Amino acid sequence: MEYLEHQNIEEVSISELTKKMESMSFHLHQETTDKAQLNPIKRLSSIQNVWKAVKTKLGNPKTALDVGSGFAYGTIFLDKQNIKTVGIEKVRSKNTQAIELFRKLGIILNKVDEIDFTKSPAILEADFNSLQSQEVADLITMFYLSGELVTNQQTFKVCEKLLKKDGKIVLSTEADRKTIESIIGNGNFKLPSGFSFEIIDVPNNFEKTVIILNKV
Ligand SMILES: C[S@@+](CC[C@H](N)C(=O)[O-])C[C@H]1O[C@@H](n2cnc3c(N)ncnc32)[C@H](O)[C@@H]1O
Repeated sequence: MEYLEHQNIEEVSISELTKKMESMSFHLHQETTDKAQLNPIKRLSSIQNVWKAVKTKLGNPKTALDVGSGFAYGTIFLDKQNIKTVGIEKVRSKNTQAIELFRKLGIILNKVDEIDFTKSPAILEADFNSLQSQEVADLITMFYLSGELVTNQQTFKVCEKLLKKDGKIVLSTEADRKTIESIIGNGNFKLPSGFSFEIIDVPNNFEKTVIILNKV
């Protein structure tokens, strides 16, 4: 009981999910050498710390697109915060494994052919930059962001199109603030015009730095 009094409903539901994960074994695989994504418990915990650091700055988003969703940790996490969420991931084998992973945990991750928040939590298998919808989401997240995505100028044009007025983008990365500031400074990561931005540190976390972009 005491445990419940000190945590809100969303935190309890994530810690219950983590407990279930601890009692099971998973055999996720992917083609790149990055191993961090293969550990669901560590990914959920890191995303939770990112969320704690930013949530008061996001207004009260009702809908989110979790871009480059990988094994859908962020998609499930946001859905558990009562935010209707569709993950966008282009790699089929990750989507298949994500559906199976969460099925074992008792969560239905729906596969959709278009952005449909009524099916949350859902996954849309697509190249993000091919999406055509307009002003559909309050929030776009890229947890443990893909460098390939954020250095492509098209990505933020698509974000701008998909976001509603006052919409926000949350980018989280394992790089530290100094590295991010120098990448921005040398022009390799051009923050989009039409957005203001803020950098937030998440100390002692896998994703150490978050960039919040506000559509103005
Ligand atoms: C570093 S992983 C992060 C996965 C997940 N967000 C997490 O927190 O564990 C980045 C993901 O972005 C996906 N990705 C990269 N470019 C993409 C694109 N254009 N459209 C959709 N997904 C993309 C990759 O396939 C990869 O799964």
